[in-house]
Amino acid sequence: MDANATHAHPTAIDFHGKTIVITGAAGDIGFATAQYLGHLGARIGLLDLDPEKTQAAAKTLTQQGITNAYFIADVTNPEQVKNAIDHLSHTLGPIHGLFNNAGYQGHFSPTHTYPLDDFNRVMHINVTGAFTVMSAIARHMITHGGGAIVNTASMAAVGGPPNMIAYATSKAALIGMTQTASKDLAPYQIRVNAISPAYMGPGFMWTRQVELQAAAGSQYFDACPDNVAEQMIQSIPMRRYGHINEIVGAVAFLLSDTSSYITGVNLPISGGIL
Ligand SMILES: NC(=O)c1ccc[n+]([C@@H]2O[C@H](COP(=O)([O-])OP(=O)(O)OC[C@H]3O[C@@H](n4cnc5c(N)ncnc54)[C@H](O)[C@@H]3O)[C@@H](O)[C@H]2O)c1
Repeated sequence: MDANATHAHPTAIDFHGKTIVITGAAGDIGFATAQYLGHLGARIGLLDLDPEKTQAAAKTLTQQGITNAYFIADVTNPEQVKNAIDHLSHTLGPIHGLFNNAGYQGHFSPTHTYPLDDFNRVMHINVTGAFTVMSAIARHMITHGGGAIVNTASMAAVGGPPNMIAYATSKAALIGMTQTASKDLAPYQIRVNAISPAYMGPGFMWTRQVELQAAAGSQYFDACPDNVAEQMIQSIPMRRYGHINEIVGAVAFLLSDTSSYITGVNLPISGGIL
């Protein structure tokens, strides 16, 4: 491309005519993002393991006037992922964006007692699963002229949260995966970025981590969940947890043409935790 070429100012974020696939779409962050991108005009492809929650999510989107389709698949299963991409792209049209977001938090226990089977499970879902989906969708995007991918990492990747060795390791891997994929896929007009939420709520993961950090009985957190919630909030410069809806705008920005020169970046959504 001509380095001196002039570019028009971007228009407001608009996904009309675009298909976005979201993994973990039935969960708190995935579903909130599906609704937001849908209201910005996107056709939404929902991919999740949980049939009941996914069907309910699809129904709600339809009631809100958002064009959507869903496919029940395990992100770690390459055949199911391929079938999902085939079904969603045939139903909704070529995929322009991927929010690669399915994830599992794992056990809460210290490094020396952390169960190996759960460590492997976390790595399999969060790392191998994210790679499986990203790689398959990249092949699809290459044949359709490009696209944008956002991987859900976490501040756990850099913060060293106690009792979360598998989760922290998996999310650090996702940041590395994002950086390498951004290089590999740049020649194909595919941008790859990551977001790193910190303490987000309300929702399943917030409640689960408060309760399980309390139960883990470490020197870092109190044994009472209410006190753990307060300890976590006091560690955030903005002194509150982030709302799930404070993630969706960042995902929209990174998936849209407004961020057309941004790739390989990991964006903290953390209330000031760095
Ligand atoms: N909520 C937070 O505080 C927080 C903070 C940082 C990062 N994250 C990350 O954000 C992402 C979404 O989290 P959430 O809070 O919405 O959690 P959630 O548990 O509400 O949603 C996760 C979704 O992923 C799906 N899923 C899990 N394993 C799957 C698999 N193998 N194949 C397909 N789908 C699968 C689940 O069915 C679920 O619907 C995760 O990657 C999580 O690690 C969350």
